[in-house]
Amino acid sequence: MRGRFITLEGGEGAGKSSNLEHIQRRLSAAGKQVVRTREPGGTALGETLRGLLLDRSQSVMSDDTELLLMFAARAQHLAELIRPALARGDWVLCDRFTDATYAYQGGGRGIDGGRIRLLEQWVQQDLRPDLTLLLDLPVEQGLQRAGERSDPDRFEQEQAGFFLRVRAAYRERARQEPERFRIIDASQPLPAVQAQIDHVLDAYLAGAN
Ligand SMILES: Nc1ncnc2c1ncn2[C@@H]1O[C@H](COP(=O)(O)OP(=O)(O)OP(=O)(O)O)[C@@H](O)[C@H]1O
Ligand SMILES: [Mg+2]
Repeated sequence: MRGRFITLEGGEGAGKSSNLEHIQRRLSAAGKQVVRTREPGGTALGETLRGLLLDRSQSVMSDDTELLLMFAARAQHLAELIRPALARGDWVLCDRFTDATYAYQGGGRGIDGGRIRLLEQWVQQDLRPDLTLLLDLPVEQGLQRAGERSDPDRFEQEQAGFFLRVRAAYRERARQEPERFRIIDASQPLPAVQAQIDHVLDAYLAGAN
């Protein structure tokens, strides 16, 4: 039986990376074989593309180039890792996926959603995440958390308006697909965020057998 595809989404500093391991442990405890990965990236080629996409010195990259590189990395990720894992029956847990493209390249950069859908259809065919956890929090709070880390990458150096559009686009997608999305209040302290996540996962696991 095909495994399940679970994605973790949210803006800068929402806590995606911080919660991945917790989620993996929860799923493993339920007897699932879990493959943990991220976008852009997840394969050797994809990680090379990630380097280009996040590199601040790539300041002349056009919006369409950015979009196409995202989907190029995704095509490789699907072919090399995600589809084979799901076919084996593994559960795939991915830090960002195509909802991030709608949020950042669509909402943030202003690329028409129709173009993104075209690429989504081409690259993914009928594959979509089974469950998406959207870690939602005020932009300021997320940027403050992210800011305590390292140098800003090419996205992190954007202005506040960009991140407000990213958040709005994420929330709009969640509104349009309520059966796939679960919104997590990521503004809370980590234990409270994890409690919400556990609640969602337990309910999902109960229905997934
Ligand atoms: N609930 C929380 N409360 C307080 N701090 C948090 C919380 N969750 C994560 N953090 C901290 O915020 C920072 C950003 O978290 P993390 O790297 O997990 O975010 P992210 O969503 O992966 O961000 P990015 O989109 O930039 O990869 C880290 O320093 C992390 O320790
Ligand atoms: Mg992260």
